[in-house]
Amino acid sequence: MHVHARVKTRAPLTLSIAAFIAAISFAAAQSVPPNVAQRQHGMKAIADAAKSINAMFQGTSPYDSKLFKAAAETIRSQSGTALSALFQGSVTTTGSKASASIESERQQFDKLALDLGAYAAALSVAADRNPDALGPAMRMQAGDAVAGGGPLAKKIDAARNATSMSAEHAFHLMLQTCTSCHAKFRVESK
Ligand code: HEC
Repeated sequence: MHVHARVKTRAPLTLSIAAFIAAISFAAAQSVPPNVAQRQHGMKAIADAAKSINAMFQGTSPYDSKLFKAAAETIRSQSGTALSALFQGSVTTTGSKASASIESERQQFDKLALDLGAYAAALSVAADRNPDALGPAMRMQAGDAVAGGGPLAKKIDAARNATSMSAEHAFHLMLQTCTSCHAKFRVESK
């Protein structure tokens, strides 16, 4: 992959991440069934963790590998089967923005939940490997396009390669996983 091709795709991606982070919003507190409260609370924790990781990548917060890892672990622990378990049975209910499509396309929902966990786990490992600084090793690499998410990786399951790509790339793909799941499985307003 040529460097200029990589640079061309990077700017809009960075912009869309900034937009996604800025657009994260929470539902106004209201009384909802306990399982709904629990999953919304989990999503808020995920969002806060993603924001703190983003701030370290942007340099608006100093890098602290322990905090970085803790944030990644927060996301990981709320992902995968733990996340899917909060959306069992009939998912649409008062105060919830969960879409009925979760019930009809549960496999895809579960896959996105697992992908979220795979990226979070990769970020957690990256923090261990980089205890002192968020240096070049954690930044976007030329090989990332091959490891997953780039045009060369269309046929590859990117999340399964999460630990072999740079942390920054894994983070970007993780945010795309949030966006994909919300686009498909969260309704705008109800
Ligand atoms: C597998 C699907 C899925 C993934 C992945 C996912 N979300 Fe969500 N998210 C949902 C659903 C569904 C809701 C609506 C839950 C409800 O209202 O019952 C939601 C709600 C939210 C909310 C609103 C919570 C509230 O206060 O009501 C935020 C914020 C959020 N997600 C952030 C994120 C972020 C940030 C990520 C990625 C790091 C992410 N989500 C990944 C499915 C997902």
